[in-house]
Amino acid sequence: MLVKPPLILLSGPAGFGEWFELINPSVIGALTLKTITLNPKSGNKPPRMAEGRDYVINRIGLENPGVTKFLGMLDDLRRLKTKIIASLGGDSIDEYEKIAKIVKPYVKNFDAIEFNFSCPNVEKGGLSIIGDLEGWRRIIKTIRSILSDSFLIAKLGIEGIFIEEATKFLVESGWNGVTLINTVRGLHFDGDKMILGGLSGPILKPIALRAVYEVKNKFPDIFIIASGGIYNFEDAKEFLRVGANAIGVGSALFKDPEIVEEIGKKLLEVIHKND
Ligand SMILES: Cc1cc2nc3c(=O)[nH]c(=O)nc-3n(C[C@H](O)[C@H](O)[C@H](O)COP(=O)(O)O)c2cc1C
Repeated sequence: MLVKPPLILLSGPAGFGEWFELINPSVIGALTLKTITLNPKSGNKPPRMAEGRDYVINRIGLENPGVTKFLGMLDDLRRLKTKIIASLGGDSIDEYEKIAKIVKPYVKNFDAIEFNFSCPNVEKGGLSIIGDLEGWRRIIKTIRSILSDSFLIAKLGIEGIFIEEATKFLVESGWNGVTLINTVRGLHFDGDKMILGGLSGPILKPIALRAVYEVKNKFPDIFIIASGGIYNFEDAKEFLRVGANAIGVGSALFKDPEIVEEIGKKLLEVIHKND
């Protein structure tokens, strides 16, 4: 997949493209939409987000309108002047298969399809899907056969399985890419109140860098989207150096969308210099 510049707005923080009112779409290579599940989800009760010294913690819980309503939004999404990556998830192995079948007639609307196997904020599905390794292996093959022509990306976290082991199986099953990494389970005290959620932001960067490094070394041909604590151009360069094919930004959008635009502009400058 050609992503030019190699900058992607990550699933969740990127919403459904609302940021393009603040960021020039020409400096963004692709947008990964919020994860969609078979049925609508209202997500978890507040508080849903808090900020610590080097991190954001969220427990949104995959709030989304469900796949039927999502497919009704495609005309609006087509208006966004960037590549679109759909993100799909489920509460069970069975739901991953169902959503893949429902989306199949619409795949031409998407430049790639990412499957979220790593959300830490839902009781069923998300991260726990990979806990049933046999079931996960089965669904990887099933999804590949249903969406036979799509560019398929798996979003992996660092919990539940070694990402190298998971990537080996994805490569053998004909998947095209991995997004590394998702948020990591954390606990944050807000006064006396405990918030259990997924950590994102600068705290993730060294972990995500190592993940990209290991996977690229072992599987040089897989397309890697880096995700974890990319907040400036220096961060982006480090991820490119360890082998990322595209740079993903998530929480940095909340901090300052202008920084994200600047990363995109600098990546474009590098591309033009090398042309
Ligand atoms: C508020 C919030 C919501 C998120 N929702 C999703 C989601 O729906 N699907 C998904 O795959 N990842 C989701 N993520 C994870 C991000 O896509 C990203 O992988 C993670 O935040 C690490 O990148 P960052 O440090 O740049 O934020 C979410 C993250 C945050 C902070």
